[in-house]
Amino acid sequence: MDIGVFIPIANNGWIMSATSPQYLPSFDLNKAITQKAERYGLDFALSMIKLHGFGGETQFWDYALESFTLMAGLAAVTDRIRLYASVPVLAIPPAIAARMAVTIDSISHGRFGLNIVSGWQKAEYDQMSIWPGEAHFLRRYDYCAEYVTVMKQLWETGRSDFKGQYFTMNDCRLLPQPSARIDIICAGQSQAGVDFAAAHADYNFCFGMGLNEPTKCQPSVQRNVEASIASGRRCEALLLFMIIADETDEAAHAKWERYKEGADLDAIAWMNHQGEADPRGALDVSAIYMSRPPSAMNLNIGTLVGSYATVARLMDEIAEVKGAAGVMLTFDDFLVGLDQFGQHIQPLMKTRAHVVAAV
Ligand SMILES: Cc1cc2nc3c(=O)[nH]c(=O)nc-3n(C[C@H](O)[C@H](O)[C@H](O)COP(=O)(O)O)c2cc1C
Repeated sequence: MDIGVFIPIANNGWIMSATSPQYLPSFDLNKAITQKAERYGLDFALSMIKLHGFGGETQFWDYALESFTLMAGLAAVTDRIRLYASVPVLAIPPAIAARMAVTIDSISHGRFGLNIVSGWQKAEYDQMSIWPGEAHFLRRYDYCAEYVTVMKQLWETGRSDFKGQYFTMNDCRLLPQPSARIDIICAGQSQAGVDFAAAHADYNFCFGMGLNEPTKCQPSVQRNVEASIASGRRCEALLLFMIIADETDEAAHAKWERYKEGADLDAIAWMNHQGEADPRGALDVSAIYMSRPPSAMNLNIGTLVGSYATVARLMDEIAEVKGAAGVMLTFDDFLVGLDQFGQHIQPLMKTRAHVVAAV
């Protein structure tokens, strides 16, 4: 099972609370985190793209760096770990994204891939007058399908003459070709998103769910497995979990309770409001899922809370989720959390014994 880290490109990571660690994003912070991850044998690091924060007393995600440029910098200061940037398809033309990807492929010597972001939050794009209108909610993965087709043509053949509904290429050129395959990642939760990933991506993220319930996400992983089989190509599922660890179960749970007490209700309400704009309805929209009980405070990311031994056992249980190729981790405090993971948790994990031996 591969393990990655969802590096904090925006302030306060993935906890909307006034009582969790408060920090701003910077290159130095993300460099320290990614280099630690590499040192502990983690397999990949991914940064998201977020163009409009949620406000509230913590100004949640109002401070955010840009994903490609951050990963380009990280590519130059790492050697082994795979790196993924997130591309907002509404904001960057596919031929430019493809060229930026080839550039980071060159900097990283073949360790780069792309997370395709279809855009669920209207305000991010409306603020620049590039929101295509409400129809985008329904067709955003058709748009992504054309986008990825153009990029793959450029990477594989050096040119694209693609004529589609959203993109028209006129003998568009791109050389050099990448030195290695540029993996496509997605995080589609809606059926359209899952089907797009199955048809065009190498990996699709599923939300880990619940509190200390590592296998609760099995049904959504199964949905990905079935879509991959139906498409006749390989798209593997990845999971997303948050770790809140300490020396004892009690100490870890005390932190978790403290963070919940400080929940930034205004930021949560703003996210809920953005998610509700999608006319497909609550079941299909993960922004709605993220902003409702039981734990909107950490976007309902599946959470592992406990002592190092407890978290190691839960992490090994994640490896039992059938069809999951890996897990991406977030932490309450990334620098402390990665040291806890690398020095105390991973050495107790049966499924990472080979990594511990290697590092
Ligand atoms: C691991 C992960 C990474 C994501 N990265 C981004 C991102 O960089 N920017 C963004 O706006 N949304 C991001 N999202 C949201 C997804 O792109 C997607 O819109 C969301 O999961 C809902 O699925 P749907 O688009 O099929 O409705 C991410 C979600 C997950 C789980």
